[in-house]
Amino acid sequence: MARASAERLIEVGTALLIAAGASAREAAIVMRHCIDANLAGHDSHGIIQIPSYIDRIKAGHIVPGAAWEIVQESATTTVVDGNWGFGYVANERAMQYTIDKARGANVAAATVFRQGHIGRLATYSLMAAEAGMIGLITADSGRAPKHVAPFGGREARLGTNPISIAVPSDLDGPLFLDMATSAVAAGKISLASARGTAIPEGWILDAAGNATTDPKQLRAGGALLPLGGSEGYKGTGLAVMVEILCGLLTGLGFGVDPSGRHNDGCFMAVFNVAAFRPLATFKREVTEFAAYLKSTPPAAGSAGVYYPGEIEHLKAVQRKRDGIEVEDATWTKLRDLATGYGLADRLGLV
Ligand SMILES: NC(=O)c1ccc[n+]([C@@H]2O[C@H](COP(=O)([O-])OP(=O)(O)OC[C@H]3O[C@@H](n4cnc5c(N)ncnc54)[C@H](O)[C@@H]3O)[C@@H](O)[C@H]2O)c1
Repeated sequence: MARASAERLIEVGTALLIAAGASAREAAIVMRHCIDANLAGHDSHGIIQIPSYIDRIKAGHIVPGAAWEIVQESATTTVVDGNWGFGYVANERAMQYTIDKARGANVAAATVFRQGHIGRLATYSLMAAEAGMIGLITADSGRAPKHVAPFGGREARLGTNPISIAVPSDLDGPLFLDMATSAVAAGKISLASARGTAIPEGWILDAAGNATTDPKQLRAGGALLPLGGSEGYKGTGLAVMVEILCGLLTGLGFGVDPSGRHNDGCFMAVFNVAAFRPLATFKREVTEFAAYLKSTPPAAGSAGVYYPGEIEHLKAVQRKRDGIEVEDATWTKLRDLATGYGLADRLGLV
């Protein structure tokens, strides 16, 4: 695996997306969010996604330059049709719009439908935290092919349906939860396939419903398991609620559309902390709460307690310093794309 700086990956991804039809502004937004995912240690949502997004542009599943359209609105709510634009672009704008509404009304919520993949969810909930608000966001994959079997089943009927909540604090790294409601994000199985590594037992079932550590079994008719192992019904319960917020409340529906067009339906809500508690007091208390948790004596064999979001912060510090490892299979795809667009020399990818 080769290492590259965040800036280098942004340069490569931006040039390829523009060559594929994105505007410079769209490419910059997509790459900022993607490479933030790499920095946070979630490589499944980083540079590895760029060849897939370019495939989706070619297939007409992502439409560069799509209009961002409000189809229903009140003082505190917004319904946005992304018209199949980049999810990063549509969703970032919807979150900013929701934060702006919450500045006046103290609470605001929005749904977004018909947009491309939105990537790592914390990238949006953290926008609210940075504005002194609590941000909540959930996403589902609309009627695109599903990956997760409901608890007790062996066929995929749910998305990985992630949830993120971020809060303001005075901590060095932000405190946030950001998790799939499946055992892991589907992208982590693709990443293991690309890296040729086995996955832990308990992540997926093969097509016959047996546990397996071979990541390739997911695409061979297998299914991801819900979060929670033997208590996977709780993961399924969360996934069902996420799908109701993001699939049914948005009007996208449930089940699979045979056209397979990827769509991230989204529900987001923002709560202005100052409407409940003085912001500075709340931030200080969240910081003290994190310190209290971290001072817990470690369990046997454990490195100790991390607050939610801390792992990503530590990873980002390390990767900004040391660079980001990118698997050969992804470099090869990026190089092939650059060659196809006549950009290989300019990008130093020969
Ligand atoms: N857009 C989509 O369609 C989609 C779908 C699924 C997942 N995702 C994204 O995939 C990413 C990965 O999701 P995941 O569920 O595989 O992540 P994960 O299993 O790594 O869990 C991440 C969460 O757990 C916390 N965490 C991790 N290790 C910890 C520790 N030792 N102590 C305390 N907290 C810890 C992290 O801070 C974070 O809040 C997320 O960013 C998610 O938003 C996106």
